[in-house]
Amino acid sequence: MSAPKKTSDIVSALNDFEDIKLTDKMFGKFAEHMYTLAGVDLPLTPKNHALIRNRIVKLLRRHSLKSYEEYWAMIERGGAELTSEFISALTTNMTSFYRESNHFDFLTGALPELSKKFGSDIRLWCCAASTGQEPYTIAMTACEALGDQYKKARLLATDIDLQVLKKASIGTYEEREMQGLPPAQRSKYFEKVKAQGEEFWRAKDQIHNMIRFAPFNLMTPKYEFQHQFHVIFCRNVLIYFDEATTKKVIDNLTACLAPGGYLVLGHSESGNVKHTHLKPLSRAVYQKI
Ligand SMILES: C[S@@+](CC[C@H](N)C(=O)[O-])C[C@H]1O[C@@H](n2cnc3c(N)ncnc32)[C@H](O)[C@@H]1O
Repeated sequence: MSAPKKTSDIVSALNDFEDIKLTDKMFGKFAEHMYTLAGVDLPLTPKNHALIRNRIVKLLRRHSLKSYEEYWAMIERGGAELTSEFISALTTNMTSFYRESNHFDFLTGALPELSKKFGSDIRLWCCAASTGQEPYTIAMTACEALGDQYKKARLLATDIDLQVLKKASIGTYEEREMQGLPPAQRSKYFEKVKAQGEEFWRAKDQIHNMIRFAPFNLMTPKYEFQHQFHVIFCRNVLIYFDEATTKKVIDNLTACLAPGGYLVLGHSESGNVKHTHLKPLSRAVYQKI
């Protein structure tokens, strides 16, 4: 396709992309690949078909390809960058500050008690951190709950999607991404910065320095960490997994949780949790016994 020059050419070139057909066979290949890489289960439904088509058509444009078949051939040739781009395109990263806020009320009560019980170091893990609103909310909650002892709380924030993880580690948000953050918290823990004539909010060092960001795939067969965690947040990611994958992930998370520690899931995700070492406490919150 030659480079379009006029607006009408651009519109018609974009329409060309919209017209490219995603066959059920190609849908199946992409869905299976995503399942193998990330555990994300995408059965053939009209909604998932539209999701894969809409997200991958952007990659066709980016790589100037004419069909999903061409894109698949490129993916099959492999390469870390292409794989990462594919995963990033097909993950859903919706998040916000203080999402499912009762979990942060729970954490406010739990942290002083954990601090008394476990002493100097409270280790927290946010294992599907997306663009960072969740780990920064955990860090703010720790600051409020532990006062001048806040440095005791050390947080690991991970995600499979390297693009969102990069954004999380920078910790800079547009106004629309600050939704959910009360004004008092906003001015205490964030500062306004200007870049290219636009205003953003940036996490202050106090909360930024509490968090270590790293890539982690929950499909890793066995999770190996030097120390167990006292609190694990694994929210709104299990919904993308099938029952067998969810069970494996819950088993792995429970194994790396210290006895007495807490596992926090998304509100809609507690239905399938059956583990002999997990005691349900409150909505989607479990304690390891
Ligand atoms: C809907 S967001 C939830 C974000 C946050 N936990 C919350 O509740 O607001 C789901 C996140 O899970 C991540 N994810 C999906 N599959 C994953 C996997 N296999 N390992 C780690 N993270 C994964 C996605 O990249 C995405 O950022």
